[in-house]
Amino acid sequence: MSEQLVEVKDLKVTYYQNGVETPVVRNVSFEIKKNETLGLVGESGSGKSVTSKAIMRLIAEPPGKIANGEILFEGKNLLKMKEKQMQKVRGKDIAMIFQEPMTSLNPLYTCGSQIAEAILLHNKCSKQEAWERAVEILKMVGVPSPEKRAQSYPHELSGGMRQRVMIAIALSCNPRLLIADEPTTALDPTIQAQILKLIHDMQKEKDMSVLLITHDMGIVAENCDRVAVMYAGQILEIADVKTIFGNPAHPYTIGLLKAIPKLDEKVDRLYNIRGMVPRFNELPNGCTFGPRCDFCDKKCEEEAPQLVNMGDGHLVRCHYAGYLPERGI
Ligand SMILES: Nc1ncnc2c1ncn2[C@@H]1O[C@H](COP(=O)(O)OP(=O)(O)O)[C@@H](O)[C@H]1O
Ligand SMILES: [Mg+2]
Repeated sequence: MSEQLVEVKDLKVTYYQNGVETPVVRNVSFEIKKNETLGLVGESGSGKSVTSKAIMRLIAEPPGKIANGEILFEGKNLLKMKEKQMQKVRGKDIAMIFQEPMTSLNPLYTCGSQIAEAILLHNKCSKQEAWERAVEILKMVGVPSPEKRAQSYPHELSGGMRQRVMIAIALSCNPRLLIADEPTTALDPTIQAQILKLIHDMQKEKDMSVLLITHDMGIVAENCDRVAVMYAGQILEIADVKTIFGNPAHPYTIGLLKAIPKLDEKVDRLYNIRGMVPRFNELPNGCTFGPRCDFCDKKCEEEAPQLVNMGDGHLVRCHYAGYLPERGI
């Protein structure tokens, strides 16, 4: 049995922007192993959500298009599946939770009936049984008085409780993969930590893999086994979480780590990587991170770096991967 649950190979996604078909995700390859949490990090606009939507085949065409690549789920290429087969995969094998649960919950139905509906969609059981399971799952995800809460409408719940309902819907069919796209960004820090712990506990309990998308390196440190760092639609570095934090090799990853606020240090201003994420229609010829990198030279300006294997599954897209210490980083 393979230890990989998902294998993304050379994924390319384009969007029509101002009438031009523009690649926004390119050369993206990564695996998600069984029972692991893979973090996908990067600044806003780097292609994280597009990548996760591609796995779910939720890129609306047009304006979007999956232009190249394979997405293998337990060895089967999702990109070759008929829409009908894919509908079975969604929710049953792969479930997704988003940043703002209010937009994904239907305001007209009670939370319990929305969970029950998800259960009925993928399982043969009576409405009564589905309702009972819904209440059970609400209890499991830490919703107090679940029988009562099942009768509540989304607007009657707090943001944290709504996100728990979304997680309950996602978990209701025991998916093999949970994609959590910035699941806690809209919540306050205490609730954030609770929700992340819940996802972590469920991952362990249910033998599930998680793709955790975030722009917060602190969240990555606490919740992920491996990390893929995305920038301008490409993966710049991928490694296990220890390596990313203890031995990062890409200047962009190093910049992201420097930008984590430290509780024990009094600083007047938080560190920020200088410059901005480039627009996809004006990417530099060489390294996409070059214009913001302190170590950029002529080679970086002219030649796009490939992903280099540093060993032990540590891949880095930088001409100077492994040489940066001599350059003073
Ligand atoms: N519906 C769309 N139409 C056109 N371009 C889009 C659309 N959705 C995403 N994009 C492009 O894809 C890029 C990456 O978006 P996204 O994956 O949402 O970034 P993030 O890393 O913040 O999740 C955006 O900066 C934008 O250029
Ligand atoms: Mg996003």
